[in-house]
Amino acid sequence: MTVQTQTLRTVAGIINSVETIEGAGFLVRRPFPKSSFSEFDPFLLLDELGPVNLKPDQAKGAPDHPHRGFETVSYILDGRLEHKDSEGHAGLLNPGDVQWMTAGAGVIHSEMPEAEFIRTGGKLHGIQLWVNLPQQDKMMAPRYQEIPSAQIPVAQTEDGAVTVRVIAGAALGATAVIETRTPIVYLHFTLQPGATIVQPMPKEYNAFAYVLNGSGLFGAEQEPGDDGQMVIFAQDGNEVTIANPAEAQHPLDLLLIAGVPLNEPVVRYGPFVMNTEAEIIQAIDDYRNGRMGHIHA
Ligand code: FE2
Repeated sequence: MTVQTQTLRTVAGIINSVETIEGAGFLVRRPFPKSSFSEFDPFLLLDELGPVNLKPDQAKGAPDHPHRGFETVSYILDGRLEHKDSEGHAGLLNPGDVQWMTAGAGVIHSEMPEAEFIRTGGKLHGIQLWVNLPQQDKMMAPRYQEIPSAQIPVAQTEDGAVTVRVIAGAALGATAVIETRTPIVYLHFTLQPGATIVQPMPKEYNAFAYVLNGSGLFGAEQEPGDDGQMVIFAQDGNEVTIANPAEAQHPLDLLLIAGVPLNEPVVRYGPFVMNTEAEIIQAIDDYRNGRMGHIHA
């Protein structure tokens, strides 16, 4: 008989975000990719849009662009985004809503602030995560999972000190409604001052935390991590711990994201992520020749 012992993971590294201009000219904070992203497998990119207070007519978005071979996950915290794609699909994302888009063989879409929001301005804050697809799913039919805020499972500790919104995976007894192609954990935790979480995290998962607001203490050695930083956990234990110090002035708001690595070759060219160069050349050719469709206004 083997006894499963619980061991806390240490922190492998802390990464600062880099400010980057995206789409039609909006600023994002991007902790990765940088030079190496193997420790993020199966994730390809994380962008934090805002938080920013926009003046009327100042909001910008990402006009028509393609994707193939992976998934884009949009999580809106403030503001309203409009989405349209080449399959005739359209939707509106409000605060707390999640859109999990499996691009698969390819979609062309636009992601823009909603017209009325552009007109009035206001606070805009959102997260986009790119999740790689395994080889056998790269050319699957595109699929959307659009979950309004009210349908995202929420759980709380008995004392109310920790709240979690479960976008993927499970935490504090709540299980996500979103289905993923490979095992993924995507949790939005809010920790009041003095609160600690211990989240089970099997060793084979790559795991990281991205701090949205506040400062926390991460991992077995309680490494400090702040707003805009990404904390990468080492694969040296089967639990992740995060604390908001008792003397903190604010709640700690963070995303805990994890997945089982695909360990497959990644060939990446802008919005196309495939396994071989030939598949990238094919993707570019399909896009140029209209085989990923067009957006009809
Ligand atoms: Fe996109």
